[in-house]
Amino acid sequence: MELTNKIAVVTGAGSGIGRASSLKLAQNGATVVLVDYNKETGEETLKLIKEQGGEGIFFQADVSKSEDVQNYVNKALEVYGQIDIFFNNAGVIQRFAPFTTVEESEFDRIMDINVKGVFLGLKYVLKVMEEQGSGSIINTASTAGIRPEHSVAVYSASKHAVIGLTKGAALEYANKGIRINALCPGGVQTALTAGVADQFAEGGYIPEEISTMRIGRYAEPNELAEMVAFLASDKASYMTGSVVLVDGGLTL
Ligand SMILES: NC(=O)c1ccc[n+]([C@@H]2O[C@H](COP(=O)([O-])OP(=O)(O)OC[C@H]3O[C@@H](n4cnc5c(N)ncnc54)[C@H](O)[C@@H]3O)[C@@H](O)[C@H]2O)c1
Repeated sequence: MELTNKIAVVTGAGSGIGRASSLKLAQNGATVVLVDYNKETGEETLKLIKEQGGEGIFFQADVSKSEDVQNYVNKALEVYGQIDIFFNNAGVIQRFAPFTTVEESEFDRIMDINVKGVFLGLKYVLKVMEEQGSGSIINTASTAGIRPEHSVAVYSASKHAVIGLTKGAALEYANKGIRINALCPGGVQTALTAGVADQFAEGGYIPEEISTMRIGRYAEPNELAEMVAFLASDKASYMTGSVVLVDGGLTL
């Protein structure tokens, strides 16, 4: 299998795209270090991986906290000695709201997890990969990182920032054997999108315009995981700094 002997660290591994990608990476032979702040769901993912004959560990961490990030990186090194693949994926959606009603605390929460979390992951994993002279990193951005969704300007800004971090890091590491790409899902059937419907039902606020999924349905998390496994592998050897849309035509 093409990822045999590779060690992959995945954040947000307890649910959705992170869980599906962890399973896919393990199916392709990688050993996975699962990171999530939800211990229960993270451990469930590990159980699913072991049931399919895969290898790995779970490590509880909040990606927005520097110490936690250093701890998950150190844990991966302590147990497996290397990090070949890093799926820097954990993220949260903002509450849909008219721009001027967005609280400063909501801005900080979104930026802390979606931007600082991705930055810290890059900062500490890149140090490891630089020493190794190899590695593949996939940061989860969004179609909202290319153009906004209505009533979630802060989330959109956070995902634009993920693309900026991806391109900036890719430029610095292109000649050091490390590839860094951004994955842009459109609408994926996960806890994140399910939560949006609940939010509309509870809060009563529905934005004037919500994008339709042009392809006629949401993506299954596994349809994103296929791309993650490809970008992680040597098959994507000439891809770095790319912003890869897997959006069913949403941005057309
Ligand atoms: N679902 C979509 O339609 C969609 C579209 C575009 C982009 N995305 C992005 O994809 C990524 C994954 O989303 P998903 O849909 O799989 O969501 P999800 O809610 O199903 O999974 C996200 C996981 O990240 C974990 N997490 C959240 N904050 C964390 C933190 N601070 N530290 C550690 N773990 C944390 C959660 O516990 C959860 O297990 C996110 O970055 C999201 O913004 C999702």
